[in-house]
Amino acid sequence: MDIVKLGPEDTERFLALRRAMFATEAMNFRGASADDDAIGLAAWRERLARDHVYAVVQDGTWLAVGGLTRLAGQKLDHKGLIWGMYALPAARGTGAAARILDQLEAKAREIGLRQLQLTLMADNTRARRVYERHGFALYATEPESVRRDGEFADEALMWKRL
Ligand SMILES: CC(C)(COP(=O)(O)OP(=O)(O)OC[C@H]1O[C@@H](n2cnc3c(N)ncnc32)[C@H](O)[C@@H]1OP(=O)(O)O)[C@@H](O)C(=O)NCCC(=O)NCCS
Repeated sequence: MDIVKLGPEDTERFLALRRAMFATEAMNFRGASADDDAIGLAAWRERLARDHVYAVVQDGTWLAVGGLTRLAGQKLDHKGLIWGMYALPAARGTGAAARILDQLEAKAREIGLRQLQLTLMADNTRARRVYERHGFALYATEPESVRRDGEFADEALMWKRL
């Protein structure tokens, strides 16, 4: 398994992976394919140029992906947000997702961030276990944060001080 940084040239392939991810894992994400479409290709290219997005690769296949955004603002830019964590079903339990998280944390330290934040659906126990193993702690639960399949679902907010 190798880890590679994705850039603007990877945008179409990255969005195709996210489409597949939303199709099979809709319950585990606050976002949806339609939201990605609304952002548009040009903005996604810019995002992949600006953010730190990585893929774990084996034989040309992206096994897992995840991104890190530094918050904007003079008073906020000590914080980073981890987003879009996903491992292909066949790659779960292999350490691919852990490798992404380790890389994102290393990058966060390199660029001088003081803390990392992430959110997940409160009932996503598998993801929560992974984040806890990486030292993230739950600091709040946002009630009825996401309208999911016609029902309101809570979102868990986690953070890690670096
Ligand atoms: C979340 C995700 C990236 C984690 O990667 P992974 O390879 O599955 O994670 P791991 O196998 O390393 O760890 C999963 C942990 O959950 C446990 N687990 C496995 N299945 C579980 C289940 N059904 N319920 C609860 N815990 C479970 C594992 O035992 C392991 O815990 P451990 O560290 O104590 O052994 C991956 O599962 C995924 O892509 N899920 C779908 C999309 C998603 O939920 N993304 C995150 C959005 S915030």
